[in-house]
Amino acid sequence: MKVLGIVGSPRREKGFSHRIVREVLSGAQAAGAETEVMYLVDEKPEYCIHCGHACFDTGVCAQEDAATARSGQIGAADALVVCAPVYCWQVNGLTAALFDKARMPTGSWNRGAQHGRSALGIAVAGGTGTGVFPALQSIYAWLCLWKFRPLDPVPVTRFNLAAVLERAASYGRTLAESRPRPFEGTWEQALTYDALPYMAYGRVDEFRWLAEQIATGLESRDGDREQVKATVHLLEQGRAYAAAGDRSGEARSIIQAYRSGAEAW
Ligand SMILES: Cc1cc2nc3c(=O)[nH]c(=O)nc-3n(C[C@H](O)[C@H](O)[C@H](O)COP(=O)(O)O)c2cc1C
Repeated sequence: MKVLGIVGSPRREKGFSHRIVREVLSGAQAAGAETEVMYLVDEKPEYCIHCGHACFDTGVCAQEDAATARSGQIGAADALVVCAPVYCWQVNGLTAALFDKARMPTGSWNRGAQHGRSALGIAVAGGTGTGVFPALQSIYAWLCLWKFRPLDPVPVTRFNLAAVLERAASYGRTLAESRPRPFEGTWEQALTYDALPYMAYGRVDEFRWLAEQIATGLESRDGDREQVKATVHLLEQGRAYAAAGDRSGEARSIIQAYRSGAEAW
């Protein structure tokens, strides 16, 4: 069993992506797996120029031999963890460049055979935490396209980083102990990905999730502070508006809760 970790951060070892992937892979090693890491900053994937050379059929990039080699490396792994930073409310360009050019030997959704090898996607956001879900949705769109069997997506922000680092080794164990479970067909693949957490999240859902993470963290260490109480109150107000079907009231309260909580953090 070989677990491959893909680190999409250009900051290499200095980034949180590296720290998280390292923990995931150490859990996989402890469960007996062989592991390897692909740092995209070393790979410097070129962007796809749409040259029309039938790469989806052949698996070969006519422009960049290294792209073909990368696809082979990803295709040879028994399980995968992909960790990408969030830039400008989406997956960063370095990771997107890999995604655009990867052509695994088992083919994309409408070609080749099902394989169902396990994969975990992680998106790492920074100061605001915003954009973590579009990035995660992009990673999972790519995993779905290539027919990986998904583990639940992991959103990371400064508000939940410590908790994710604590759990990371267990994700690695799960990957190491997984066996391929090919989908019965595209219908099962589509249903499986649609049923994953966060895949249908929009902007307001993201602010609600962030406000909840912040409120949980603040309450556990500083529950008596006025601003913490105000944050929790705004969050509850947002939920009440949502229950009453008032989307504008919900959005206003949730974003106020987020702002108040982030300031208090
Ligand atoms: C160009 C750029 C855009 C960014 N955009 C966002 C963003 O939209 N939301 C956010 O929360 N953090 C954003 N960040 C912060 C990074 O997501 C954050 O620093 C993250 O930790 C980077 O991953 P790394 O530590 O693995 O390098 C941005 C950083 C850069 C350089």
